[in-house]
Amino acid sequence: MSWRNTAQDWSTPIKLLHWLLALAVIAMAVMGLVMKYGDFTPVERIRLYTLHKSVGLTILVLALLRLLIRLLDRGRPLLPPMPRWQHLAASFSHVALYVVLIGMPLTGWLYNSASGFPLQWFGQFKVPALVERSAELKALAGGLHFAGLIVLVIVLLMHAGAALQHHFVNRDNVLRSMLPRSRRNRR
Ligand code: HEM
Ligand code: HEM
Repeated sequence: MSWRNTAQDWSTPIKLLHWLLALAVIAMAVMGLVMKYGDFTPVERIRLYTLHKSVGLTILVLALLRLLIRLLDRGRPLLPPMPRWQHLAASFSHVALYVVLIGMPLTGWLYNSASGFPLQWFGQFKVPALVERSAELKALAGGLHFAGLIVLVIVLLMHAGAALQHHFVNRDNVLRSMLPRSRRNRR
């Protein structure tokens, strides 16, 4: 268990949050589509929406925590030599993934607020509205929430594709640096 990023590995908190958030965001994207377009009774639909909103707010807090940890520990595993455009593409997609991780919950929260629906976190406490009820803001936030899904799918495919290419084609340390400590590192 390592609390700091090293030249070989991301820190344990970054790894844990990376995979937890990756799973949660993918599950939430599927859930968003299923709950909106699936065939459910009104009660079932309300339950699904309520769960979607609570998990989404949890993602917002964890994503902000991850960003904070990342900003506090600026070290990072060494990257293998690669063309400049690949560096730029990686940096761009990492920023885009942080924007999606934080932007999806915020636009969902904005949509909910502008719709005038009350919001609770797993039935434990009330979450305040971000804005007053407004049809224009509701339409804008709904559009942005959907646009976020498109950005997520495109950037995630690029990101996961690049990680797999590093691992299986280039056979370097990039994917291993985000996995539980590799055997190479334990030796
Ligand atoms: C990472 C977090 C989130 C992801 C990936 C996500 C994803 C999605 C997706 C894919 C849809 C279907 C969009 C469409 O077809 O228009 C959706 C709908 C929705 N989401 Fe989220 N969402 C997230 C967080 C939230 C949060 C935090 C809230 C509210 C507090 C929220 C509220 C809603 C609502 C109310 C809808 C239904 C919109 C409608 O009926 O038109 N979402 N979400
Ligand atoms: C929705 C899902 C995902 C999100 C939101 C996400 C997000 C991120 C972010 C923001 C970073 C940048 C770390 C930083 O500099 O702070 C990162 C790094 C990384 N991710 Fe993901 N990721 C996702 C899925 C995946 C998947 C499926 C894989 C593998 C197939 C993967 C492999 C990696 C690797 C290897 C790194 C380290 C890259 C490096 O050292 O430059 N990620 N991820």
